[in-house]
This record gives sequence, structure tokens and C-alpha cells, in this order.
Amino acid sequence: MQAITIQTEQEGHPLVWQTVADPTYQADEVLVDIQATAINRADLFQRAGHYPPPPGASEILGLEMAGQIKAVGVDVTNWQVGDRVCALLPGGGYAELVNVPTDMLMALPDDWSYEQGAAISEVFLTAYVNLFMEANLQAEETVLIHGGGSGVGTAAIQMARQAGCRVFTTAGTAEKVAYCEKLGAELAINYKQADFAKQIQQYTDHKNPVDVILDIVGADYFARNIQLLNLRGRLVFISTLSGAKTQLDLRQLMGRRLRVIGSVLRSRSLVEKVEIKQRFLNQFWPSFLDGTIKPIIDSVYPIQQVNEAHEQIRKNRNIGKIVLKVV
Ligand SMILES: NC(=O)c1ccc[n+]([C@@H]2O[C@H](COP(=O)([O-])OP(=O)(O)OC[C@H]3O[C@@H](n4cnc5c(N)ncnc54)[C@H](OP(=O)(O)O)[C@@H]3O)[C@@H](O)[C@H]2O)c1
Repeated sequence: MQAITIQTEQEGHPLVWQTVADPTYQADEVLVDIQATAINRADLFQRAGHYPPPPGASEILGLEMAGQIKAVGVDVTNWQVGDRVCALLPGGGYAELVNVPTDMLMALPDDWSYEQGAAISEVFLTAYVNLFMEANLQAEETVLIHGGGSGVGTAAIQMARQAGCRVFTTAGTAEKVAYCEKLGAELAINYKQADFAKQIQQYTDHKNPVDVILDIVGADYFARNIQLLNLRGRLVFISTLSGAKTQLDLRQLMGRRLRVIGSVLRSRSLVEKVEIKQRFLNQFWPSFLDGTIKPIIDSVYPIQQVNEAHEQIRKNRNIGKIVLKVV
């Protein structure tokens, strides 16, 4: 098959579309003919050599895909050749073929494009597990989602709104702020122009107004995040874009009974991922089917132009997902 490989010996680690070995598939897996995949920020870290795939995962980039089943393992009874599917992957999405355990497959509705299907798995499952499982976000709670214009942010805003929460968010441009409001954020703050914590405190007239925070920024926001949390508030870290080292007065946690949670999706076991996928489908798939929630697609590139597409992500230009078409 053809796949993207990382030229680690060259400066900038350029990505090249070239011939590699086909993946093999197990008795309980299917082989999927990938039609579209999508970029995640983590792909840039992996490409730079800072985020190796978990043991046993493909070395090829790509944490999600949509495509058509090309072959099924001998034990597979509930999926057939030709079925349209999408799935979260531990790697291997930037390619023509990938093997997927059947328990991770999600059926792609007939009227959805493969590009739409490819833009769901990683960001919606990440937002889902962290908001609704790790932080146990409940209806009528207030949630602050940092990086509202990111792939994960656009997913998190929509699901939190759909779950009946008040949503506050931060983003770095006026265009992203406006888009987050369109997606349902009650208050979207340009963090480059105003202190988000002060804005939220003024807006709510409350010193500790937030129940749950989904954070990708880390060190720079830590003190302000802690300050904003309400009694029994939860702060979930899924990235540390500004740095990972910080200080904490532990008494702040005790007094308001706060919880600070760190979380990754990729290295979890298959059993955990299947549970996350199933709970996500049960709670939110009907909202996808009726169009209330949508994958937000910034742009679509042919996979051969992946270097240009990565550059857009690196420069923080995307709102939602950048999809790579594999044909
Ligand atoms: N732990 C997990 O399991 C998991 C899973 C998936 C994703 N993630 C993480 O979640 C984050 C979002 O992923 P994604 O693929 O959706 O990202 P993305 O679409 O590439 O968006 C990331 C956005 O973060 C903002 N940003 C970058 N540096 C920043 C900084 N120093 N301070 C504040 N904002 C900054 C930028 O938007 P602005 O223009 O608004 O600054 C950028 O567009 C990434 O950091 C990713 O690694 C973690």
C-alpha cells in the first residue's frame, strides 16, 4: 500500500507518500480501505520525535480514519466487506489500508461523507471521556473549555451544550471567538486580549464560578484555572501547550475539595477505548444523526499535500479539523 512516512534524517522531518508493507489483520479485526483521515496536534509531536506510538501500534501517523471494509477476519460476523465505517486508531491512519478491531468500529451513515466520518473519532472521544467520564460533567454545570477553536474544543463545546451545560471558552483570534459562540458557547474570550479569569469572574459576578475545566494549556493557566473552580470543581489536563511545570498551594484543593485530573486517550487499553466509544455512541450519536452535533471541518487536503496541511495546524490557523483525503 501507499502511506505517509516520516523522513527523520532530513531537517523538519518531511512527510512522504510512498510504498510500505500492507498491514495484517487478526481474526477479530477488519481491514479498511481508508478514504479519509484527519490531522491531530499529536501527529506534529510524533513527527518531531516527541510522542512515540504505544507498544504494538503502527509507526505510521494517524489516529483516526473513515473508509470501507475491504476484508474481514475469520471470527467476524457482524461486519461485511463494503460497510462504511469510521474509527479511532492508535496509529496507521495516514495510509491506504489499516486493520481495526471490530469493537472499535462505528458505522458511517449513508448520507455522510468519508471526510465527515474521519473528523469525529479522536476529538469527540477525547472530549467525551474527559468531560463526561473523567470530570463527570452534569447538566446545568458550568464548564470552561480552553482552546475552543481546536478540534477537541469544537467537539467539547457542542457536546457540553447538548448536555445542558453553560459553556465558557477561550480562543486566540476574533474569528475563533465568533465561531465558538456560533457553536453554543455563552461566553468566548480572546485570551490574547483579556485575562480570561477576570472576564469570567466579572461576567458571572462570582469568584469561583466554574465546575469543570478542560485544559490544553497547562502551566500558564494553572493558577487562574484553580482560582476559577467552584466547590468540588474538576480540572482535567489533556495537554501542556505552554509548559508542564507549575506550583500549587495544596490548601486550595482541600478547601474547595477540588480534583485535578491528568488524562490521555491513545495509550489506554482496547477495553477502555471500547467502553468510551460505546458510552459516547449511546449518549451522543442520536445528536449526530439528527444534525444537532457535527464534526467541524476547517479544510480538506489530498494526503499527498500533508506537509502543507501540517503547517496550517502548526500555525494555529485551523478552526476544527483538517482532513486528509486518501485517493
Ligand atoms: N490527552 C489526550 O488524550 C489528548 C487527545 C487529543 C488531543 N489532545 C490535546 O488537545 C489539544 C487540542 O488538540 P487538537 O488536535 O484539537 O488541536 P488543534 O486543532 O491543533 O488546536 C490547538 C489550538 O490550541 C491553541 N494553542 C496553541 N498553543 C497555545 C498556547 N500556548 N496557549 C493557548 N492556546 C494555544 C491554538 O488556538 P488559538 O488560536 O486559540 O491559540 C491551536 O489552534 C492538543 O494540545 C492535543 O495534544 C490530548
